Amino acid sequence: MSTTAQIGVTGLAVMGRNLARNFARNGYTVALHNRTASRTHDLVAEFGEEGIFVPTEAAKDFVAALERPRRLVIMVKAGEPTDAVIQEFAPLLEPGDMIIDGGNAHFADTRRRERELREQGIHFVGTGISGGEEGALHGPSIMPGGSAESYESLGPMLEKISAKAKDGAPCVTHVGPDGAGHFVKMVHNGIEYADMQLIGEAYQLLRDVAGYSPGQIAEIFRTWNTGRLDSYLIEITAQVLSHVDAASGEPFVDVVVDQAEQKGTGRWTVQIALDLGVPVSGIAEAVFARSLSGHAALRAASRDLAGPKAAPLSESEAAAFADRVEQALYASKIVSYTQGFHEIAAGSEEYGWDIDLGAIAAIWRDGCIIRAAFLDRIRAAYDTRPDLPSLLSDETFAREIAAAQDDWREVLVAATRQGVPAPGFAAALAYYDALRAERLPAALTQAQRDFFGAHTYRRVDREGTFHTLWGGDRSEVEA
Ligand code: 6PG
Repeated sequence: MSTTAQIGVTGLAVMGRNLARNFARNGYTVALHNRTASRTHDLVAEFGEEGIFVPTEAAKDFVAALERPRRLVIMVKAGEPTDAVIQEFAPLLEPGDMIIDGGNAHFADTRRRERELREQGIHFVGTGISGGEEGALHGPSIMPGGSAESYESLGPMLEKISAKAKDGAPCVTHVGPDGAGHFVKMVHNGIEYADMQLIGEAYQLLRDVAGYSPGQIAEIFRTWNTGRLDSYLIEITAQVLSHVDAASGEPFVDVVVDQAEQKGTGRWTVQIALDLGVPVSGIAEAVFARSLSGHAALRAASRDLAGPKAAPLSESEAAAFADRVEQALYASKIVSYTQGFHEIAAGSEEYGWDIDLGAIAAIWRDGCIIRAAFLDRIRAAYDTRPDLPSLLSDETFAREIAAAQDDWREVLVAATRQGVPAPGFAAALAYYDALRAERLPAALTQAQRDFFGAHTYRRVDREGTFHTLWGGDRSEVEA
């Protein structure tokens, strides 16, 4: 076996297969391996003319087919299957070789694997890859972690196969050491959940409050997609909503069971945010909304609960309402990204990753599921002020929210009046109002904690920690 392949891919299900083809189409010689060898041979039979593939069956042949230092991409299910593949290949590798995990791994697993393999001199590069099947083939957004040294060898190849933003910049950057790449991919997915939930709420409001049909709402989304909401998710929403089910003749959205599933990355985003103490309430509502939708029995048992009786909107009111929903959606979207970037900043601080937030916004501009025109403005905001306390402190975003806020509030009033749930819009607005509040009821919370548990409090007018003798004469003592 000649050792010629510049990169190898093991795990040739749809994502792995498309990634391997992407490398080959970009001129790289790609070694292929899969647990079931027929998949390897099928790939070569079907797409062999796209580039140079080296199909292998035995693990040792796969490793032997790679030039040194070896670059071995694993595209298998996160969790135990990933550990199993690492255990299979690591003993065959040598110091300096790289294992690139392109799955949706939990960043804590990536940190552990990186540490373990480092002892063997192997670079473990946990890499977030976004863009679905199409992205893997035509250019995904890529979020590699791992050592800077591994990026020197791997970066140019990833840059070649990645999506390119409008200014030509490749949608890949070295995110940071060990688990940084998978952490950022996790938050990308959390934001993806929030984006999808907000779009879902906008759809439901346009349907139930404004009285539009799915086809009409598709048109509204199409128009929005030509403006500041320009994004992949808005674009596909318009396509989904205009699709008519062939079997029933009904709008496709009406024949799909309204129970959303999840593989876990959105949930992880919220779990980690809780650990880091970062309020990602919009993302959390998106995760909860999916789980609520899945409680079929609970929903059935609650269907007869009383709701409001409000009159539907007139045609002219509906058009005005649609404009308001656009404002509410945009403002809430800014809040989701604000919360997501806060979590990345907090993770970076906690784990010493030194993540460049502007660079993350830049690589999300194309290729990934949350790609959106406004990410270029997030990039600009962080490039101008890398220490920006929050996206909401950026002048342009603050001005846009100021202009949107009346409509945002009105949309929530209408949602409440008509009994249409809009937890994402509501959580985003509550976050915004809480951040700008002069005083929060947290003062009362602290006083209550001191009352029942002597948990102490600080005062606004002097330094120190205090406790009030609630059960006694209510005098104050220094704690
Ligand atoms: C991407 C997607 C991808 C996958 C999600 C779906 O960036 O390409 O996020 O990773 O489609 O994991 O997540 P759920 O199944 O949890 O909705």
